[in-house]
Amino acid sequence: MDKEMRQPLIVGNWKMNGGLSDSIRLVTNLKNQLNEKNQVEVVVAPPFTSLHSVSIAISETKIRLAGQNMFWEESGAYTGEISGLFLKESGCDFVILGHSERRQFFKESDEQINLKVQAACKSELIPILCIGEKLKERQAKETLNVVEKQLKIGLKDLAIHDFETIVIAYEPVWAIGTGETPQTEQIEEVHHFIRGWLKRYFDAPTANMTRLLYGGSVQPENAASLMQIDEVDGLLVGGASLHTEDFIKIIHFEENR
Ligand code: 13P
Repeated sequence: MDKEMRQPLIVGNWKMNGGLSDSIRLVTNLKNQLNEKNQVEVVVAPPFTSLHSVSIAISETKIRLAGQNMFWEESGAYTGEISGLFLKESGCDFVILGHSERRQFFKESDEQINLKVQAACKSELIPILCIGEKLKERQAKETLNVVEKQLKIGLKDLAIHDFETIVIAYEPVWAIGTGETPQTEQIEEVHHFIRGWLKRYFDAPTANMTRLLYGGSVQPENAASLMQIDEVDGLLVGGASLHTEDFIKIIHFEENR
């Protein structure tokens, strides 16, 4: 299966922005402006407290819902945590895991992220596993080693059928929220490496089904060219997903070529 066979996926990660009323406003605007004939799968990831209301707002649409994080246990004395079951019950089909902000500010390790990835699959959520190098690591030519370690530990002990849906997002940390995007060749190199690694670690048919996203300063102006890069199957969008007009232009990238 090659790129044409994988449905493009565009995910809006709203991060910790806006409460319930902002979420409803954003998703209503999105719903109203989205061309439903569009072939792109669209996912939004609002804050936890907006999930249920947003799921009701999108119930008659093709827009799908993601959590921004979850804990690996199903329930118990873990004050402040949210389990995969709760996300599922709130209407989520996806969950973003291992985002660089979780790694940086909450010190999440690859081992913890792996427990979350496993728990997400068990809860029938599709994990969007985020990986990517810091600027220092790129400058030290460590990018591929960093990415390999994140993949190797992050995807440990997964059943092969979990890979039928799993999504991997390459987000270079230095490109997140900075307005700086890597050169085409840099993205291509890492995406090729990820696909190759998946082929070696699992098998070619499985690796060919996995959608690989790029994230980091995606804007309406660069969405079409990013989507043209070999092995880029979709985009993980932060800031621009908070402005419906921009997010819509990104989703309708084919019209803006
Ligand atoms: P920006 O699009 O704001 O750079 O954020 C990217 C991101 O972190 C998406 O998860």
